[in-house]
Amino acid sequence: MTAVPGALADAGAHRVRVSLGERSYDVIVGRRLLEQGHAFDSLSPGPHAVIVTNDVVGPLLAAQLTQALRARFSRVSQVTLPDGEAYKNWETLNHVFDALLAEHCDRNTTLVALGGGVVGDITGFAAACYMRGIAYIQVPTTLLAQVDSSVGGKTAINHPAGKNMIGAFHQPRLVVADVDSLLTLPRRELVAGLAEVIKYGAILDEAFLSWIEAGLARLLALDGDALIHAVRRSCQIKAEVVASDEREAGRRALLNFGHTFAHAIESGIGYGRWLHGEAVGCGMVLAARLSERLGLIQPQRARRLESIIEKAGLPTKPPDIDDKVLVEFMRVDKKAIEGSQRFVLLEGANGAVVAPATEELVERVLFECRSS
Ligand code: NAD
Ligand code: GLY
Repeated sequence: MTAVPGALADAGAHRVRVSLGERSYDVIVGRRLLEQGHAFDSLSPGPHAVIVTNDVVGPLLAAQLTQALRARFSRVSQVTLPDGEAYKNWETLNHVFDALLAEHCDRNTTLVALGGGVVGDITGFAAACYMRGIAYIQVPTTLLAQVDSSVGGKTAINHPAGKNMIGAFHQPRLVVADVDSLLTLPRRELVAGLAEVIKYGAILDEAFLSWIEAGLARLLALDGDALIHAVRRSCQIKAEVVASDEREAGRRALLNFGHTFAHAIESGIGYGRWLHGEAVGCGMVLAARLSERLGLIQPQRARRLESIIEKAGLPTKPPDIDDKVLVEFMRVDKKAIEGSQRFVLLEGANGAVVAPATEELVERVLFECRSS
């Protein structure tokens, strides 16, 4: 993490650098960032910014963001999408392209994603494709998006055969995470975001996991300082991993802890029925139990994680769906190599690895988890 300049520092904001050579960028974390606008001061002036948001977040925050962007962009316009994971598809993406073309947007246009991970992923993918690639900024407004999806440049839409199957790596120019925007977030969404915070502690930072364990009540009560620490530390961990392995050739895959199970749950029951973070919560329980079954960790490590996930209010048991269907969906996971299933697993006292597991064992773990 590095110091922030002048007005931002006065406002108590923090800066996390994602170091990727000429594609490096800052994640600014703090309070009143949209209201004060200084978080955008580092941007070069541009002709046109298009805010991409949805019909829930737009009415709450788009006016404030428009005002903040006017200091940097001659023109600021807006595209509003329908809300929900069910709309993270080709049709919605095309709606963004239609709007950009209708407004004569060119290669100097900057897209600004204002919303949760769904808006962020669609906007990032639209920016990656439009005129072969234009700039975009992430203004994440859910906890999940602030700690995970807005950082690292993964963009995607869903396909009926699998989640996030169509996408691109395209890094944003700037991420502005204003924790005050979380004050209107429904509690279920806040809890879902905690799953990704817990994930970082579980796989890469034991001290952070202990801090989360002790600070759950403050986080759930939307304490500003606790939220800033959770977002900042999560972004630091993610920035460090992404800087070392941008394209997920190795280490970045660890960030998918719990996600092989989670994506199968989401696809299996239909997008949007469980929130992504809820599926990740349950997925981490299953992955920890699988690690234990494979003899990679002592039972206490799995029990402790399960207890934190439960105390956060996340599901710890799979939804009511045939385990064979879940296993079927795991076959399209992006980590699978030549048909062999690979999982992010816990190892030893603090570590994590990517390792294979048989479908029989996975089914057994699903069964045991349901019946425990
Ligand atoms: P989301 O984008 O659907 O947002 C959750 C809900 O909260 C929506 O109804 C949204 O309109 C509403 N909302 C957002 N901000 C709000 C606010 N400030 N006040 C009130 N309501 C608000 O869901 P999410 O959990 O943010 O993101 C999930 C998506 O992120 C999934 O599609 C997942 O695949 C993706 N994801 C991507 C990455 C990545 O690296 N690109 C990482 C993790 C997750
Ligand atoms: N959410 C996992 C990653 O960005 O790699």
